[in-house]
Amino acid sequence: MKPVKVGVLGLGTVGGGTVNVLKRNAQEISRRAGRDIIITRASARDLTRERICDTQGLSLSRDPYDIINDPEIEIVLELMGGTELAKELVLKAIANGKHIVTANKALIALHGNEIFAAAQKANVMVTYEAAVAGGIPIIKAIREGLSGNQINWLAGIINGTGNFILTEMRDKGRDFSDVLAEAQALGYAEADPTFDVEGIDAGHKLMILASIAFGIPLQFDQVFTEGITKITRADVEYAEELGYRIKHLGIARKTESGVELRVHPTLIPERRLIANVDGVMNAVLVQADAVGPTLYYGAGAGAEATASAVVADIVDVVRALSLNSESRVPYLGFQADAITDLAILPAEAIETAYYLRLTVEDKPGTLADITHILAKQNISIEALIQKEPNADETKLPIIMLTQKTIEKEMNAAIAAIENLASVTGQVTRIRLETLG
Ligand code: HSE
Repeated sequence: MKPVKVGVLGLGTVGGGTVNVLKRNAQEISRRAGRDIIITRASARDLTRERICDTQGLSLSRDPYDIINDPEIEIVLELMGGTELAKELVLKAIANGKHIVTANKALIALHGNEIFAAAQKANVMVTYEAAVAGGIPIIKAIREGLSGNQINWLAGIINGTGNFILTEMRDKGRDFSDVLAEAQALGYAEADPTFDVEGIDAGHKLMILASIAFGIPLQFDQVFTEGITKITRADVEYAEELGYRIKHLGIARKTESGVELRVHPTLIPERRLIANVDGVMNAVLVQADAVGPTLYYGAGAGAEATASAVVADIVDVVRALSLNSESRVPYLGFQADAITDLAILPAEAIETAYYLRLTVEDKPGTLADITHILAKQNISIEALIQKEPNADETKLPIIMLTQKTIEKEMNAAIAAIENLASVTGQVTRIRLETLG
């Protein structure tokens, strides 16, 4: 059979890694796919740049339209990132009858519904394994491996940069900005690193995971995101003292009243496997009714780790080229007409436990005032640490863990506590999940 010809948009870290893996493992990949797969053309903004891959035998162009308009190319790899131009090119390639493999989480999270609808009309495949958790085959696992289950919730460390920062802060006592600079130098951080530290990147990935877990439309604007920029070394240390680690988690949970979609720093018990996922590594924990909990761990970024997912998608596409659309795996794992628009819960309706840290005056009645406010909001205290003030100080920190409550109740309690004359400054609140 004739080889399948592939064109690449973007020859950066992921594009270069994909060229390398496809070349190095060509024989093994062909044995699996049943056809030879060759990249014939690639586009890049700057053709003079030094590349991590050998571009010999590749027809290079500055114009991405040269690739998507080439009648010989059957599969287009969108590895350029960004959303506007990427969306325009992907929709045009689909209209030209090309199958798409993308690593672009923002593109899928923001425009996936439109892209899948266009692809269905054009009878082409769109795959995106590399968009979530780099090399971990989490899309395949949820969409296919767990298709017999009802998924109750999932929680993931799905941004390597943020995890690297929190790990270094904990292990080496390093400062936030110092570690972020290193993550940028290592090539893990997004072009705009606020996407990493403010939870936007993790939010894109969480939205994709929630869609394939629950069969709901992509709706990134409904994801609650809170970053890690306010986490201090003191919080990391108090959490340790209480037997917890702070991780930046993406959590999707199906409840009776709707779906929670949230990314925020989270205390998790240190005995959980996922609490020990360190550095730039990613992990996703999925709780499903039949299989119970399953945990997926691996490299969430990097040239060849991400290329591993891109190439797996290419192999899937090649194997399914001769199938009609009804026989292919649906884009979101659920049949298009079975996607259900479940209510997404607002942040105030989230149900979770909390870590609270506050600074108070060392005088009688302070603790009683605070516990009275919490009791009034029906919030139960699970653990409490009060530190002795230094000899020359009158203020001291109080750290509390609460039982689960509704976020609205906690907001009211925090506002009342901050109003107390004996409390200085703002209350630090970090959500806590036992993941049991
Ligand atoms: N900036 C992302 C991360 C890269 O740090 O995880 C992979 O999506």
